[in-house]
Amino acid sequence: MSTQDLKRAAAARAVALVTDGMRLGLGTGSTAAFFVELLGARVRQGLAVIGVPTSEATRAAAQAAGIPLTTLDETPELDLTVDGADEIDAGLRLVKGGGGALLREKIVAAASRRMVVIADGDKRVAVLGRFPLPIEVVPFGLGATRRAVEAALPRAGCAGALTLRQAADGSALVTDGGHLILDAHLGRIPDPDALAHALAAIPGVVEHGLFLGLATGAILASREPASFGEA
Ligand code: 5RP
Repeated sequence: MSTQDLKRAAAARAVALVTDGMRLGLGTGSTAAFFVELLGARVRQGLAVIGVPTSEATRAAAQAAGIPLTTLDETPELDLTVDGADEIDAGLRLVKGGGGALLREKIVAAASRRMVVIADGDKRVAVLGRFPLPIEVVPFGLGATRRAVEAALPRAGCAGALTLRQAADGSALVTDGGHLILDAHLGRIPDPDALAHALAAIPGVVEHGLFLGLATGAILASREPASFGEA
């Protein structure tokens, strides 16, 4: 099986968790896209759900798949969010935001009673930090915010360079919320809670890609199928 087949298989297992009437958070990324596609097929067969997309890309995919959509204003509490991840550790702590959708992803996950991660097995790590940590910042005061982030890293036991994420055309990538992303190349994050608190205290930081205490389960798309948490 190819990695794509394995991701699709993980997404299919997550679709099996969906029951009639559920209010769903719809994640972003290639694995979540399989979930949206497969969920759409179930909806066309009569499954009644409603979804909140975590990005404009997912909104377009969900609309194309025929999934009825809502907003967190109309539906502030969700039953289940299914989303991908860039890294996951044994405590269901995540690094997310490789697709630039971390802000809406975190808002939707926090509004959900359950969050099940679907990811390929390579995303499982012993220590978070191999994947660059996305930090979403407002464009105003970028230089000052960058300096504040650089100063905060050592206080959380981290070291490494920050890069401004670029779009395919070489310009700065702008998120769905109109913000920029600094990617922190840390290698390892020894104390994710300390880093999360330090970043959250910086005024220009909108959100960061550490998802701590949000995931309730995971389905890993490995050659040896694995799941942990409640999934
Ligand atoms: C987007 C994300 C994605 O869920 C994450 O990047 C994983 O994507 P993929 O399933 O394509 O590996 O956090 O912001």
